Amino acid sequence: MAFNLIFLGPPGAGKGTLALRVKDMLHIPHISTGNIFREAITAKTPLGLKVKSIIDAGKLVDDDTTVALVKEYFAQSGMQAGYILDGFPRTIAQADALALFSTVTHAVNFDIEDTVVLERLGGRRVCRSCGFNWHASFNPPKQANVCDKCGGEVYTRDDDKPEAVQKRLLVYREQTAPLTAYYRAKGLLVDIDANGNVETILTHFKKALNL
Ligand code: AP5
Repeated sequence: MAFNLIFLGPPGAGKGTLALRVKDMLHIPHISTGNIFREAITAKTPLGLKVKSIIDAGKLVDDDTTVALVKEYFAQSGMQAGYILDGFPRTIAQADALALFSTVTHAVNFDIEDTVVLERLGGRRVCRSCGFNWHASFNPPKQANVCDKCGGEVYTRDDDKPEAVQKRLLVYREQTAPLTAYYRAKGLLVDIDANGNVETILTHFKKALNL
């Protein structure tokens, strides 16, 4: 059976962190729209220049741009055996668009309190080269600001600044949280408790998907 997974949940819920583990476990591609946008910003491509101020302010990129980007990935080979879409869809319009070109098998919803989210985002440090998510307290790199995995520079995302985090949480509640009801109505929603350490969450995930 192909696992066509979407990861839903507030910013900082641990979607990207778990996606890396699930990707290795199931040998399926991990597509993070946030990572794609950040790479475009770093490379200063036309897409990057267009979305930088939107992302830094904690707002959503428009649906047309985001859907077109994801569609490009589905036009490439490698998606037939399954996938993890991390951070997409984020609006009902994006979910409707996705349904026209792929069939989701599980909408995995990361259930977590705002206080934990704020703790995770407050300490997040990201590698500019490989994109790995470190955490200043829970999982720091051995040498400050240097990625253990690839030697890249480790930095704090602009949208992890307190004002942007508040905006992202608000946008999540207004535009993305309604997707849980959307996928529940289709019988596809899988709630997982996203508190605790990564191993515990992976165990919840495997149990929920009968893996
Ligand atoms: P995106 O990059 O998708 O951001 P997000 O959804 O806000 O998610 P995050 O990356 O903040 O958090 P996460 O849940 O992946 O948590 P993580 O694993 O890093 O999107 C960024 C922006 O791009 C959006 O705001 C928007 O502007 C734009 N965008 C993207 N997709 C879009 C779309 N579809 N439509 C429109 N716009 C779009 O973990 C967080 C921290 O906690 C890390 O430091 C990690 O090390 C730590 N941590 C994780 N799990 C644990 C654990 N179990 N215990 C302790 N620490 C943990």
